[in-house]
Amino acid sequence: MSNMKPRWYCVIVFLTLTIGGEAGRDFYKILGVPRSANLNQIKKAYRKLAKEYHPDKNKGDPNAEEKFRDLGAAYEVLSDENKREQFDRCGEECISKEDGGFGGMDPFASFFGDFGFGFGSQGHSREREMPRGGDIVMDMYVTLEELYVGNFVEMIRNKPVARAAAGTRKCNCRQEMVTRQLGPGRFQMTQQQVCDDCPNVKLVNEERTLEFEIEPGMVDGQEHRFVGEGEPHIDGEPGDLKIKIKTMPHDKFERRGDDLYTNVTLSLQEALIGFEMDITHLDGHKVHIVREKPTFPGARIRKKGEGMPNYDNNNLFGTLYITFDVEFPKVEFNAEDKEELKRILNQASIEKVYNGLRGY
Ligand SMILES: *[C@@H]1O[C@H](CO)[C@@H](O)[C@H](O)[C@H]1NC(C)=O
Repeated sequence: MSNMKPRWYCVIVFLTLTIGGEAGRDFYKILGVPRSANLNQIKKAYRKLAKEYHPDKNKGDPNAEEKFRDLGAAYEVLSDENKREQFDRCGEECISKEDGGFGGMDPFASFFGDFGFGFGSQGHSREREMPRGGDIVMDMYVTLEELYVGNFVEMIRNKPVARAAAGTRKCNCRQEMVTRQLGPGRFQMTQQQVCDDCPNVKLVNEERTLEFEIEPGMVDGQEHRFVGEGEPHIDGEPGDLKIKIKTMPHDKFERRGDDLYTNVTLSLQEALIGFEMDITHLDGHKVHIVREKPTFPGARIRKKGEGMPNYDNNNLFGTLYITFDVEFPKVEFNAEDKEELKRILNQASIEKVYNGLRGY
């Protein structure tokens, strides 16, 4: 056994050298995801880190730009099936050769549009009162499952964008007072429209893919803003596109805040002697319920932590409330069974006066 060791050692050293020699970046490590990560995990990790590393938020850190670029490169490769495969095969080097390097895309432009917390230059334009195109509000119907685990949705947006065209056009038009001398001692002031000459533009439809993340715990009516993806304005900036979350009704669960509600029907037998069951949750995991005691119709049990994830803190979950209903047998019991039931239930002494249902 012991003379195997040196040989293994050689192999390990050799492997380390080869990997080191390629000198590529480890994109999985940069994103902090396992090599088996699926696309959603990659997107999620990227989104989180991009917020953290954004150079606008790390002005003091001299490495921020580089970290951010590494992150962008990692995402560009791992989110693309082809590039990821090449990367898995032989590292960053391969991609650079076969695909002519990186596109140098602006990860923000294509991925989120905007995070909704005011990166970059938007703040300034408001002051100049630049004309602005209208905002577009779009309802996005999502399932409760998506709100539980999160998802990414792609939208193809056909967006009219301004492109240079031949000639000039009047622009920046405004009303100005002009004074004209009509004769000695006589002036006339009139208001007149004054415009500048600007290069001509035409609106061309451009197809663009917007990606929207349905984040776990998002609530009905919540809005996400894509800055500049609304109506264009030829003399100014485009409006925003607002995506509004609408929850589709679910056949098993009902959401109230971060809590979930569901109904379960028990047989009378289960209601009397107890039961054991699994409720399939929104992501497929099972919620196990065991009861040994009788369960009356309308009884409700609570499962803490089995509700919806909280939007602000995905580690916190609401409560799942399970309300039970009891289905009574439809058969008629024979005399013998009736005696048996009477003996077992032993409820002869119950008051016959109706006081409303007891115990509800
Ligand atoms: C559960 O039952 C109650 C009463 O019938 C009903 O109002 C509620 O919508 C049901 N909830 C679900 C999630 O089906």
